[in-house]
Amino acid sequence: MSGKIEVQARKELKQMKPYTPGKPIWEVQKELGLERVVKLASNENPLGPSPKAVTAMQAALTDLHRYPDAQSVQLKQAIATHYELSAEQVIITNGGDELITLLSETFLDAEDEIIVPGPTFSEYEFGAQLMGAKVIVAPLTNDLQYDPEAIVAAVTERTKMVYLCSPNNPTGTILSKKELQYILDSLPKWVLVVLDAAYSHFVSADDYSDGIEFVRAGYPLVVLKTFSKIYGLAGIRVGFGAAPQAIIQNILQVKEPFNVNALAQAAAIAAIGDEEHVSRSRSLVAEERQRLYASFRELGLSYTESMSNFVLVEVGEQSEFIYEQLMAKGIIVRLAKAWGLNSHLRISIGTPEENELLIEALHHILKENT
Ligand SMILES: Cc1ncc(COP(=O)(O)O)c(C=O)c1O
Repeated sequence: MSGKIEVQARKELKQMKPYTPGKPIWEVQKELGLERVVKLASNENPLGPSPKAVTAMQAALTDLHRYPDAQSVQLKQAIATHYELSAEQVIITNGGDELITLLSETFLDAEDEIIVPGPTFSEYEFGAQLMGAKVIVAPLTNDLQYDPEAIVAAVTERTKMVYLCSPNNPTGTILSKKELQYILDSLPKWVLVVLDAAYSHFVSADDYSDGIEFVRAGYPLVVLKTFSKIYGLAGIRVGFGAAPQAIIQNILQVKEPFNVNALAQAAAIAAIGDEEHVSRSRSLVAEERQRLYASFRELGLSYTESMSNFVLVEVGEQSEFIYEQLMAKGIIVRLAKAWGLNSHLRISIGTPEENELLIEALHHILKENT
């Protein structure tokens, strides 16, 4: 049969922009004929996956003819124990991304409003648009810090959810515990707060809270965490939400039965107990972050101090050119234009060797073009 397809997708989909992931290594290798490509574009763990997780996945391979545990009971318990929560306060998801979609499906009606910081991670907007809800942006300050008062001031009768991303992607800036407390105490009771703490392990500031203590205290708060970053398991897709039991019960109503595969469950149980890998990964980021700052200063580039495993650096009007030149040298970073930051690049922190290659390349590009 031939002819024009007349079936129409939902009208909400017409306004939705597709997510642009960091370019994969293989694509750049193929396009540019390069052998060595360094990816500093998706905030992954350059040390690789937790070795304990790899062993656990290998052991789980022979059981792959069985469906995974639909409720991820063991993993839920491991997380509950780790964070001093009850298992009923935890939901396991197919990466943090799935949790954002599930939250949108659970809580957003058409015309509801969500408040997001601006700029921030794009999936919050995606979830809202999917449900026909509106996105209200509470801008960060000029130096890309949180403005808690602007967030509270953006609330209307239609506000259903407030997203807080701390550390924020792409700026690396955080909300202090006091600011989080202020926001939680200032919002009307019908507003659900989602604290995206995907990068919480990389924070060294004393006044930071990953929100778990506020979940324990019973606030209407969902804390999102992921195994994709510090644990190095981005490829197997597993994350979780922590929230009061009543909120978890609501979200479970829309969850697919087998949303988290068996290898991911086994890997995450092992990874959460792999303290050595966590501590190596955290130290690497802390040390290399300082080294990148020093190199940026030498190059005369300003940057935003980051509490995460990436740094937003200001390279000027030629940001797109510099991004392409880096790519031509086999270094993939993220152009921050998508966030409205026209002079910036977001650079994930790699191994010392990868960071050295980045700095050398930046040095060459800037020297040749000034
Ligand atoms: C702020 C933030 N939240 C959530 C996620 C989702 O991570 P994942 O779906 O891999 O768990 C990411 C991924 O980059 C992120 O940057």
